[in-house]
This record gives sequence, structure tokens and C-alpha cells, in this order.
Amino acid sequence: MTKDATLPVPPIYRGPLPQAVPAAGGTIERVPVTVYEQPGEASRAVAREIAELITERKRAGRKTVLGLATGSTPVGVYDELIRLHRHEGLSLASVVSFNLDEYWPMAPDALQSYHRFMREHLFDHVDVPADQIHIPDGTLERSAVAAACQHYEEAIREAGGIDLQILGIGRTGHIGFNEPGSAIDSRTRLITLDSVTRSDAASDFFGEWNVPRQAITMGVGSILDARRIVLLAFGEHKASIVRRAVEEPFNNHVSASALQQHPDARFVLDRAAAGRLTRFEAPWLVGPLDLLGIHWTDELVRKAVISLALRLGKPLLKLTDGDYNEHGLQDLLSKRGRAYDININVFRVMQGTITGWPGGKPGRARRIRRPVGSGPFDSQPVQDVVREIVAEEDPFPKRVVVFSPHPDDDVISMGGTFIRLCEQGHEVHVAYQTSGNIAVWDESADRHVDFVEEFCRAFSEGKAVGTVAERIRAFLRNKEPGAVDIPELQTVKGLIRRSEARAAALLSGVKAERIHFLDLPFYETGRVRKKPIGPDDIAVTMRLLEAVKPHQIYAAGDLSDPHGTHRVCLAAVLGAMKELADRDWARSCEIWLYRGAWQEWEPHEIDMAVPLSPDEVVRKRMAIFKHESQKDRALFPGPTDPREFWQRAEDRNRDTARLYDKLGLPEYEAIEGFVLHRVS
Ligand code: F6R
Repeated sequence: MTKDATLPVPPIYRGPLPQAVPAAGGTIERVPVTVYEQPGEASRAVAREIAELITERKRAGRKTVLGLATGSTPVGVYDELIRLHRHEGLSLASVVSFNLDEYWPMAPDALQSYHRFMREHLFDHVDVPADQIHIPDGTLERSAVAAACQHYEEAIREAGGIDLQILGIGRTGHIGFNEPGSAIDSRTRLITLDSVTRSDAASDFFGEWNVPRQAITMGVGSILDARRIVLLAFGEHKASIVRRAVEEPFNNHVSASALQQHPDARFVLDRAAAGRLTRFEAPWLVGPLDLLGIHWTDELVRKAVISLALRLGKPLLKLTDGDYNEHGLQDLLSKRGRAYDININVFRVMQGTITGWPGGKPGRARRIRRPVGSGPFDSQPVQDVVREIVAEEDPFPKRVVVFSPHPDDDVISMGGTFIRLCEQGHEVHVAYQTSGNIAVWDESADRHVDFVEEFCRAFSEGKAVGTVAERIRAFLRNKEPGAVDIPELQTVKGLIRRSEARAAALLSGVKAERIHFLDLPFYETGRVRKKPIGPDDIAVTMRLLEAVKPHQIYAAGDLSDPHGTHRVCLAAVLGAMKELADRDWARSCEIWLYRGAWQEWEPHEIDMAVPLSPDEVVRKRMAIFKHESQKDRALFPGPTDPREFWQRAEDRNRDTARLYDKLGLPEYEAIEGFVLHRVS
């Protein structure tokens, strides 16, 4: 399987892709599912499928009717169609298209309009004739909507029905905007958006209150009329809803589960979105692993045993043969002999992850105790489940670079470890990868401009500042929600985040000259949607790494941050390290991945667990508090998670500590977990 060049391989899912197989009592997956390593690969395959359909039908002298979606998911498919059009002679002149939906009300030129989206992402770059393009009209009067919806349905019928429907899936399980409760035979209509959908769209509209309450959408019934349906889903944040749509019996709480009723519907996923399917999450429950084409790797053993302990509410060392046998782990037990041996091995691995010295102890060889990664070990003796990697030369103090995608991820996700590394005498550098300027409210920027003006007036330095301040104020007076800020305002917002980041890093113990602001170019669009990663992003990152020559790197390893910034930032670090792979320092450099802003590592994934004392928890909180401009950003996740960042971070760290405690390991106040990046 090829790997997407632009993004790193997600660190959590290793080993081969388990195949879907029938479980003892039937099939767990109720609709065909294809899983690709990376979204890019999946998108290219679907684009090829569309291209083949167009070519095939053209040969038969027929048009191709496509049902199209918007959102972040299908962008890769559209990019590939554009490439095929430009470089491989694919004509889309015979395509008739029907888009799923449009916000209502919505002007077609507005930033968030699906008319504009389709022009920018596809239609401006290919040759679909304008009169063959159909998108619901967001400008209609309310009284005209119902008739227009009926007309839309008729137009689809007149075109001969949809040959291939592309779908994404929302976190509510919606397809189109068919929110929970949509009937299986619903048709094109006006619908009120679910609060989760509105909060997911909040950043596109620069505030949930700007998100329209309604939308026009094709119905579930209209979608099911298509002859073939492909639903795409990428990213960990889609994993739970994908599982519900694929494995739970059809129900109208999850509209996407209606695809189970269609004779030719398919889910196309990347590994992250497939991660909660039972064949990945708990393959031993699907059937004998041999049938799935996977082996009992040490990581899988750890996962199975920990989930058994947590499910039964027992510490690891108290699990019995009976527990294994009665809860789907007969296969593991029969291969390993005794529960006692398996328990103790997993216990030791978990115990070995705990260290209060993330950079190692002075004068001591460091022992990183961790499983060896992928690879079958069914035939190996039990003791080999755990291997010790003993670094022979373990320098102390270490040079450390903490990469922080946004200016607050360092303290939110690894604030305690950050403080420890500084206190334990390491040379700690922090590199803020993006300016984070789009996450600053206008009011906050305005207040700072006001402060600077007052400051300059007080010291008779006001003139130039006054001009900039006036320009910013004039812009803010007429700013439309979601409009791109003028450069001066973007700069002010970036500076606010810089000064907050500096304050938080200094509080954590970093020396001022070791604070670096990279301002990676991919981020600087002034919009939520970013540019793809480019050579400049890698070059900036390489320059810093070459200058510091770190022994340890810490980087954000989350795959579900809403706008993909963390993923791109990780790709920049890994891309730079790849370029520098032949340097002496790089060969022994460890890359530790942290999480925390959006979700946490699961206990079986953790390779290093750094405990936090109650005092350290408070100090970490103080560092997060320095990010004042982000305080009310916590409203952004909307009603789904109204907690502030510091609360979410603390809850996660406490949860990890609680999990360790439940497994029978020492009881700490809080734990920050890390995964060692493995080059696969
Ligand atoms: C878009 C649409 C929606 C999206 C879904 C996922 O036309 O109808 O159902 O497909 O909300 O959105 P993304 O792809 O942005 O996660």
C-alpha cells in the first residue's frame, strides 16, 4: 500500500489492515467498507472511479449524473479530478451535477456558501457546463423554498437520476444536512441544523452565532435513489460516528446508517476514521485473528488485556483464565498459556512507562521500556512480549525542542513535562509553529490596539501608531462575519498570541532566547482553511533543528484537531527530520508525540507516562491562564464541550492517572502520556 506523501502515518494504527469478515453470528459491518492508509490515497481512488464512470458512459453516448458534497472531506477527490482534467485529458463536459445542500439563507458569493465552495474547489478548474450544475438556492424567500425543493427533485429525475453520489458524514451522522430524526424516505427540503453541526461550522463562520440555523438539503430518500453511493470519512473525529453508521442496525438517529439499505453503497475511510470499527478496536471480538489476517502483536495484547481489565473493573494482576475465556480472549489465552503470565507482562510494560524524568536521570543509562512495535510474535516465548531498550549513552542534560502547533499547545498538552524538563536542567527550546492569529477575537485585538495607543500617547510616541489604529478600527467597523482581516489586524492578533506564549513559556522555566516563533507559511491565509504544507514550512523547521541539534523532540500527535493544523505541523517536523536523517544527532534523536488539546492517548498506546503532583497541576494551570485571548475561545466547541482548555487538559490528565490506578499501578494526581514515534 502506498503512503500519502504529505501527511505522516498515524502513529496509533500499525500493522496490516484487518479485513472485514463475518462474525460468528453474522456480519459486524452492515455495509461494505474500504479502508486506506491515508486520505490522499482514498481520494485518488474515488476520483479514478468517477473518471472511469464518466469515460464509460461517454463511450455509450450518455451523460454522467453526479451527486456532489462540500465540506473538507471531498476536497481531495476534487483536486484529483482537476489534475486528471489538466494533465490526463479527462473532460467533465458530459457531467450533470447536483449538490446535496446549501445553507439557508446564504448569498452565493458569501465565504461560506456552497456555491462559492464548488466554484473554488472544482467548477472554476474543469469544463462542466454551467447549465449542467445544480446547487440548492440559499437566496430564496422562505415561501418559495418548498416549490424549489420539489423542482430540484424533478430536475434530478429528468436528468435520469444520480449515477454516483458522493457523501461526507457529519458528527451527528448526517448525510447532506439530514440531521438525526430524518426519515428514510425524506426528500429535498428545508431543515433546521443540529446544534452539533452548527458548532462544527462555528469556525467557518467566525462564531457559532453567525451560523445559519437552517439549510436546504436533499433528503435521505433522494440520496438512496442514487444508483451508487460512496461515503468518504477521514480523521479520528469521525471514527465514533462511522462505527455507529456501519455497525449499529439502521436507525434514523444516524442518517448515514440508511446506506445499509442500499444495494450499492460503500464507506471509504482512512485508518483514523476506521479506528473505532470493531475490526480495529477489538478485532478479537470479530473472530479468530488468523481469519482477519492479523497477529497478536504485543501492542494488540496490551490493548486487549487493558480493555478486559477496565471492562471488568479489575486490576491487571487479578484477571483470571476465566475472565479471558469468557470475554472473547480464548484465542490469546490458548496461544499464551496462562492469564498470570500475560497479566504480569502487560503490568510490567505499563509500569515501565512511568517516569518522573522524561529526559533521563543524570549519570544513569536510561531504560525505555516499551513493546517492540509491530510484527507477529505468536511463536515467541512469553518473556519477549516486553523488551527493554537500554540506551547505552544517555547524555545529560539534553537539548530538547518542544514543537507547539498553536501558541498554547505546549502548556495545554504537556505543561507538566515541560516544567519538569526545565527544572531538571535540560536545554529546553520551544518552537511555536504557527502564529495562531485567526483564533483571536476582534474585541481582544481592539483592546490591545487601545492599550498601545494609550502607551504611546503617555510616552509621546503616538503618531504612526495612531494611523495603524485608525485603519484597524475603520476595518472593524464594517467587518462582515468571517471576512479575512487586513494585514495590520492579523499582525496584532499574532502579536497577542506571541506575548501570551512567551509569558507561559517563561513561567514554565524556558529561557527567553530559547523561545522561537516559526510562523510557518502554510497557516498564514487569514482563514480557517489553510494552504497545504510546502517546502518553505519544512525549510523553516529544518533551520531550527539544525541550529539546536536536539536529543529529544516533543511534537503534537493528534489526528483530530478540527482544522488539521496539528496534522500539518507534525508533517513539517517529520518532513524536516527525514531531510536531516543522516546527521549524527538526528540518528539518535527521540521524537515523543503528545496529545491533549482534543483527545488523549489511550493507555495501551502510552510509551512514557509522566506523573504530575498536585502542585505541578496548579503550575500547569497558571501557564495555560497566560493565554488570556483563548479563554473564551472555549465557547467554540459549543454545547458539546463547554469546558475551558485548562479544564479539559486537567480532566484528561486526571483520567489517565485514574486509568493507571484502576489497572493496579500507582495512584497519581495526574499523568501526561507520550507515544514514541516509530518510523514505519
Ligand atoms: C456537505 C454535506 C455534509 C458534509 C458533512 C461532513 O455538502 O452535506 O453532510 O459532508 O458535514 O463535513 P466535513 O467533510 O467538512 O467533515
